[in-house]
Amino acid sequence: MKVFGVITYVLCALFELSQVEALVKIIPGAYKIYNVSLNEDNSVSLHWTLDYSSETVIFEIHLPAEYGWFAVGFSIRGEIFPADYCLLWENHQGKLSLRANDHGVIHLDKQQDCVGFRAKKSNGILKFTYQRRFDTCDRKDYIIEDGTTHIVWSRGKHKLYQVNGLNVSSSLEDSGMVRVHLLENVDVEYNLPKHVKTLDVITDRVKVPADETTYWCRVVKLPEEYKVKHHIYQYESHIQESSQGLVHHMEVFHCEAPPREEIPLYTGNCFAKDRPSKTHLCKRVLAAWAMGAPPFTYPDEAALPIGGENFNPYIMLEVHYNNPGRRADFVDSSGIRFHISSKLKEMDAGIIELGLEYTDKMAIPPGQESFSLTGYCTSACTSMGLPPQGITIFGSQLHTHLTGIRVYTRHFDAYGKELPELNRDNHFSTHFQKIRRLKKPVKVLPGHVLITRCDYNTMNRENITLGGFEISDEMCVNYVHYYPHTDLEVCKSSISDQALTTYFRYMKEWEAQPTSVTQGVSQNYKAIEWNKMRVQLLNEVYNEAPLSMQCNMSSGDRFPGYWENAHIPPVITPLPPPWRRCEAIV
Ligand SMILES: *[C@@H]1O[C@H](CO)[C@@H](O)[C@H](O)[C@H]1NC(C)=O
Ligand SMILES: *[C@@H]1O[C@H](CO)[C@@H](O)[C@H](O)[C@H]1NC(C)=O
Ligand SMILES: *[C@@H]1O[C@H](CO)[C@@H](O)[C@H](O)[C@H]1NC(C)=O
Ligand SMILES: *[C@@H]1O[C@H](CO)[C@@H](O)[C@H](O)[C@H]1NC(C)=O
Repeated sequence: MKVFGVITYVLCALFELSQVEALVKIIPGAYKIYNVSLNEDNSVSLHWTLDYSSETVIFEIHLPAEYGWFAVGFSIRGEIFPADYCLLWENHQGKLSLRANDHGVIHLDKQQDCVGFRAKKSNGILKFTYQRRFDTCDRKDYIIEDGTTHIVWSRGKHKLYQVNGLNVSSSLEDSGMVRVHLLENVDVEYNLPKHVKTLDVITDRVKVPADETTYWCRVVKLPEEYKVKHHIYQYESHIQESSQGLVHHMEVFHCEAPPREEIPLYTGNCFAKDRPSKTHLCKRVLAAWAMGAPPFTYPDEAALPIGGENFNPYIMLEVHYNNPGRRADFVDSSGIRFHISSKLKEMDAGIIELGLEYTDKMAIPPGQESFSLTGYCTSACTSMGLPPQGITIFGSQLHTHLTGIRVYTRHFDAYGKELPELNRDNHFSTHFQKIRRLKKPVKVLPGHVLITRCDYNTMNRENITLGGFEISDEMCVNYVHYYPHTDLEVCKSSISDQALTTYFRYMKEWEAQPTSVTQGVSQNYKAIEWNKMRVQLLNEVYNEAPLSMQCNMSSGDRFPGYWENAHIPPVITPLPPPWRRCEAIV
């Protein structure tokens, strides 16, 4: 428990300009204001701007003036309590104040971390601003990191006599949570040149099946004009209002066939028996979107090519519908909107998949607070797949299904020396997956190693969670966007078949589990009754067993070589823990 200092920020002079707008004018680089609505009718909204030089966020909140107090803060995964709040309150004398605290029931912090408070009421709207450093150097406070931030808020009608002891979580009906990416990349220019036009690749009034998971496929042919090579400058989701929440993620694939080969214009379930086999050529990713992602814009140097003389004109949209209520009345016409031009940028961009192979060979036992799976992109594969001058990764999209809570990719040179991390989200949520433009593009050379780790929480699962395509299965992927384009498209791993067979045999012989060499991998995992020791053993096997590498070209074929029983890349020199801008941590 903390000792409470009492500092009161009395309502300051009223600003004509909103504080954020005023600050934007004086802080170099802080020229962008981001905003998110905190409730459905947008009557409460959060606006922010970033000052990377002092590692500070300047927030401004707009809300109806009739409230006596308003608490807004951060929590680890969106829970209303415990959370790290700043509290705006009006005392019985009508004065507004702002205070920091760190628990559901307000305890004032010794150190005030919500500073620079200003407030202004006009036309029934209260606007207030404050600043918060990314890292307050208080060990109990939330650290604002790159990646997902869960913003929580609650409010009450009544004026307060004092704030100590206020129970923030008691106003559950008047509270909320939104996920945002606070530490946006301020250098991304979203404006498109005038010569860019749109191309919509969407489904056509699909009657979404009343199943929990549907992968819907639609093959379309590009218009004639795409006989000439174009560049994709930007793409974004194009989702019907009534399908918000239903469309979980989407991908657009190019059909890798000779330029004049016809592909059937199939529309239907991707896993249907009658899906023409030729459509399985449609597997090279052109665009990937997942829930919560804003438009993805390519950097000035490069863009994704589409069309051209040697480009088969067929592409396929795949939409993943998530319909847990099994409603039968959804009719959907969603898809991807591309912004394309025949004016080409200097280089072609591409996408590489890092992480785990989509396979039931990797699994997460039930009842785990945090269990990790790791996918490797080995030195052997980058040596085969990357050009001598390497590639530059400028974007990254982390992906898991429902139980993923943390995802990151570490980067090593050919000698096992760790380089800065490629991307990390410590508060990852499957419901907020965006393709992030990296703040510092990353150069990856042949021989480098990329290690992608996902942590999962399966506390509410009673059975094993297997790797696979279903939403109830799990994935661990980092789709990285890079230039110049190379042949390497998949650099993923799973445990070697041999090691897994040995593990199942061990479980039978030493732990008397009903695993068997004659049944499949899924059956074997399901047959095991999980306890602490067996979970621990599985974890050790995953961390030490040799790998089965998927080192594939964009044609879908493997790079030549023997990819079974590869060694786990050694970490020789790890990075020191991240540097914190703190004189002392209190
Ligand atoms: C919020 O951001 C969107 C997109 O950037 C912008 O169009 C909108 O005007 C902003 N809203 C407010 C109230 O600033
Ligand atoms: C605060 O309110 C919540 C919800 O009503 C309740 O569960 C919790 O016990 C309260 N906390 C305290 C310390 O009274
Ligand atoms: C867990 O597995 C058992 C046995 O296969 C099955 O009966 C049960 O429905 C499963 N539970 C869930 C939540 O899927
Ligand atoms: C890699 O290529 C092999 C051989 O073509 C194929 O069996 C495998 O499914 C591919 N893996 C991935 C992840 O695409």
